[in-house]
Amino acid sequence: MGNRIDFCLLEEIFEKNMFEEKYFNKNDNVALKILMLLDDFSEGFLVLDTEDQIIFINKKAAEVLALDNDKIIGANLNNIALDQSIIDFVGKARAGSTKIVEEMGDGTLGSWLELEAIFNDEFLGIVIRDIKGRKEAQNEQKNSYESIRNLNTHMQLAREDERASLAREIHDQLGQRLTGFKMEIDYILRKSQNLETFVTEKLRNVINQIDRTIGTVRNISRNLRPGILDDFGLLAALEWQADEFTKTSGIPVFFQYLGEEKKTDNQKVTAIFRVYQESLTNIMRHAKCTHVNVMVNFGAEKIALEVADNGKGFNPEILKNQKSLGVFGMKERIESIGGKFEIESAEGKGTKVKLEMP
Ligand SMILES: Nc1ncnc2c1ncn2[C@@H]1O[C@H](COP(=O)(O)OP(=O)(O)OP(=O)(O)O)[C@@H](O)[C@H]1O
Ligand SMILES: [Mg+2]
Repeated sequence: MGNRIDFCLLEEIFEKNMFEEKYFNKNDNVALKILMLLDDFSEGFLVLDTEDQIIFINKKAAEVLALDNDKIIGANLNNIALDQSIIDFVGKARAGSTKIVEEMGDGTLGSWLELEAIFNDEFLGIVIRDIKGRKEAQNEQKNSYESIRNLNTHMQLAREDERASLAREIHDQLGQRLTGFKMEIDYILRKSQNLETFVTEKLRNVINQIDRTIGTVRNISRNLRPGILDDFGLLAALEWQADEFTKTSGIPVFFQYLGEEKKTDNQKVTAIFRVYQESLTNIMRHAKCTHVNVMVNFGAEKIALEVADNGKGFNPEILKNQKSLGVFGMKERIESIGGKFEIESAEGKGTKVKLEMP
């Protein structure tokens, strides 16, 4: 790879307007000598006058634009076979008052180019950089990011499936068996006469313990995957979770909704519900608030959800350089399936989590 063009040097040439003919005709012309040096550069450079006549082009620019650099000097830009995007760029550069940088590719030019314009009253210079390498690296990075995202979505689906079947199994198998024990003991208590008091007491005690265990089993199963989400839908599950939140935290939730819930893709409903749970967990852990407002809007095109607290808030900049993954995970989960996620917060101003799912 050759040297790169020093943009400051070019700017100086343009400022002093060293392209004038009087300079070019003199043998000791400094500008010309400098321009000669540009021939060996790895970046293309081309100079036009106000009439769009090419007055200088280096080897690299001629090569990239597929022009013959000996014959092209003096030709008018509009009379030579040149990609339309280059001509458009010159038009834009002339219309603007500052330097502009533009990436073009890939189709007709055959490669990714970055063009930068530099000009004074009389001349327009264009630096042409071949950015194929940079673009390829960016694409590679994008592809590997997409693979990771797909893998993550896949793993999340698998995990939700596992949780759902585990929840069902625990609820049905364990729950039913415990209820069975309870009924058996109940039967003994009802049918036997002359049981010693301590035996009756013990048996009642066992029934109480079984009841408590049934409660625990139900909780475990619900925490894995609330059946209410599958049986009664998103709205019911969101309201139920808000009640649970108030029961454990003592913080009241003002729950409002608009529109009517429609049948929605299970993956999307689950993602909304999980993000909602995570928002409430964050409120419980960090917000120190006195109330929470939840607003669900079932629109024709999308479901929107807002969870706002009036707590201490935080500067969202901290999310960029901290290790916790809660907010990052919520955003990723929603965006990877086509939704939008946003978190608004400021110190002392509470926090609002907003999401939209088409
Ligand atoms: N509702 C909120 N009120 C105040 N601060 C919040 C709220 N939600 C998030 N934060 C701040 O943002 C930070 C990042 O939240 P995030 O959920 O990503 O991580 P975390 O809750 O600390 O840990 P975890 O990875 O276990 O979720 C929190 O540490 C907290 O400082
Ligand atoms: Mg968190």
